[in-house]
Amino acid sequence: MAKSKTPKSKPAAADAELREWTRLVAEIAHHDTLYYQQDAPEISDAAYDALRKRLIELERAHPEFATSASPTQRVGAAPIAAFGKIRHDVAMLSLSNAFADEDVVEFAERVRRFLMLSQTDELEITAEPKIDGLSISLRFEGGVLTQAATRGDGAEGENVTANVKTIAEIPHRLKGGGVPEIIDVRGEIYLGHKDFAALNAAQESAGEKAFANPRNAAAGSLRQLDPAITAKRPLRFFAYAWGAASNLPGETQADVVAAFADWGLPVNPDMTICTTPGALLTYYRAIDARRATLGYDIDGVVYKVNRLDYQQRLGFVSRSPRWAIAHKFAAEQATTILRAIDIQVGRTGALTPVAKLEPVTVGGVVVSNATLHNEDEIKRKDIRVGDTVVVQRAGDVIPQIVRVVEDDEHAKRDAFQFPHECPVCGSHAVRDSDEDTGEGDVVRRCTAGLICPAQAKERLKHFVSRNAVDIDGLGAEKIEFFFDTNRIKTPADIYTLADRDARSTEPLSDLKGFGQKSVEKLFAAIDARRKIPLERFLFGLGIRHIGETTAKDLAKAYGSLAALRAAASAAVAGGRDSDAYRDIDNIEGIGETVVDALIDFFGEPHNVEILDALLKEVEVTPFVRADAVESPVTGKTVVFTGTLMRVTRNEAKAQAERLGAKVAGSVSAKTDYVIAGSDAGSKLNKAQALGVTVLTEDEWLAMIGQA
Ligand code: IVH
Repeated sequence: MAKSKTPKSKPAAADAELREWTRLVAEIAHHDTLYYQQDAPEISDAAYDALRKRLIELERAHPEFATSASPTQRVGAAPIAAFGKIRHDVAMLSLSNAFADEDVVEFAERVRRFLMLSQTDELEITAEPKIDGLSISLRFEGGVLTQAATRGDGAEGENVTANVKTIAEIPHRLKGGGVPEIIDVRGEIYLGHKDFAALNAAQESAGEKAFANPRNAAAGSLRQLDPAITAKRPLRFFAYAWGAASNLPGETQADVVAAFADWGLPVNPDMTICTTPGALLTYYRAIDARRATLGYDIDGVVYKVNRLDYQQRLGFVSRSPRWAIAHKFAAEQATTILRAIDIQVGRTGALTPVAKLEPVTVGGVVVSNATLHNEDEIKRKDIRVGDTVVVQRAGDVIPQIVRVVEDDEHAKRDAFQFPHECPVCGSHAVRDSDEDTGEGDVVRRCTAGLICPAQAKERLKHFVSRNAVDIDGLGAEKIEFFFDTNRIKTPADIYTLADRDARSTEPLSDLKGFGQKSVEKLFAAIDARRKIPLERFLFGLGIRHIGETTAKDLAKAYGSLAALRAAASAAVAGGRDSDAYRDIDNIEGIGETVVDALIDFFGEPHNVEILDALLKEVEVTPFVRADAVESPVTGKTVVFTGTLMRVTRNEAKAQAERLGAKVAGSVSAKTDYVIAGSDAGSKLNKAQALGVTVLTEDEWLAMIGQA
């Protein structure tokens, strides 16, 4: 919901935005053709996503722009049909990022804490360049290359076997001994600097478009429909990881990579083993200094815990391993002029300032918006409209304003006045203060809740969005229209729309822009979503602090909406000091902020009403574990108490949850097992009083097969 700061600046801003919108639509159409029809993308997925994101932002601010000419109105761009899909046996995940030296020190400390290593225990960490190419998973069966898949969405990628088989550096048969029966070797496909320059020269002399950078050229080359074309592109490969494997040729990361090399796979010659964070940083600086002469693009350094048993224990958090981190090189910067500061109102009422910039190229991508975070940030950096500012982009993150370039005019410009009223509904916008510290929240919020049209609409848009309930053909523009014409005010209204429309004197099919067919299609799409998986439903409710990952954590822990609701209601009734509160807080990945948000949500009768009305229309289906590992503790409720000797409490919890157990914070008649370490106190007594089975740590580990 972008609104200009003052009504006065609106017409000029709208004009400029319409020009920007027109340019974006043409640009996206151009990239769609290159990607879907010619298989020769020339910008990165992230850059393409940024264009679409900007288009959506513009259309939020100006719903009148979202006509059928806009690519946002086309339902789901067709995935490339020519390549089949391959499901990864073990998901291809990403790495979390470190930017500052402290992040690296913190990474090593976190690993030590998790593994309960003392400062004198040795902890080996490998360091290697982070290749800026595209990741690939190669399946070898009996040593023979049988399949190659791109990363895709991490769970499922494209079958590019025929193309990968044309890459000279990738062996079709692994040589030497000790090759596992089955192994998915993972690594990066890339194009060297010299080959990139030669390819572009050839493209140009053939009258074809040059590629923007080696990564895009590699991606474009791999995704050719005709493998004969891929064969002409000198793609290269580094193996650095693996997925499913029937067995592994070593006990450390370095051992396995050395075996890869023995089998004839190319591995990076610059991988090394370090034992201190200082050594990691020295390596990082040395590689950064050699960056231009390596002969291929890198965007940082990757650190991995060397011992595989440690990797196993550390496991994963969300979508990245705890045992590895990418240390990225400094962000790219550029200078431009700040034209305006817009205020957007989000679904939780947060007023977010957005910098409107004179478009500028930063690291190969045109940037015309940057986040300003909040009003304190604007004050702290003394950012004023008209200033020349330094903009920075790092990886895929939203561009940021680093600082103002001081000029003589800066002092004469007005300081930015952050509005104290919601620019959409005019209600007070306030900064809450923390109950405990009395400190003001950095975010100013519109106080009107669902009465604010911006919030109500954003919540509805969120509810139907792709990663939530995912209703096809019910996009931002339609929600705006249905809301403004009083057809849909709450999520339940979405599901009663067809019935009400059938009885209406002004049915949708009579309205301009709604054909009979499209209305039927929309109603069918809505009906198709009357069964909603728990994690999507939870995410779709738009409860503060409950993003996709947290929704999934909660769904995993409770299994059904009824169970989660019962837990949340008990916490509402019991308050912050209750066992019910602590039980939720104890779930892996859930902290007090989330529990407080759940309490706020379920404690508000209006929300409960909206939820109950919705539940009359839809069925929320229980969580299905994708990684379900059947074990004697699956579905059981367990409580850990006392000091554990062989694993940390966090590790024990993570293990139990991985096996499908629910870890609770307090003992009740519903508890199946209490695992009592040394010095166990009242929980042990309570377990004995209730007749709950008590296990020692060793008995527990034996039960879950970890003894
Ligand atoms: S290890 C569980 N090592 O970076 C993830 N990744 O941001 C294991 N990448 O998707 C990945 N060079 O495509 C690893 N030496 C390297 C890498 C590397 C580039 C890419 C990879 C991954 C992305 C994560």
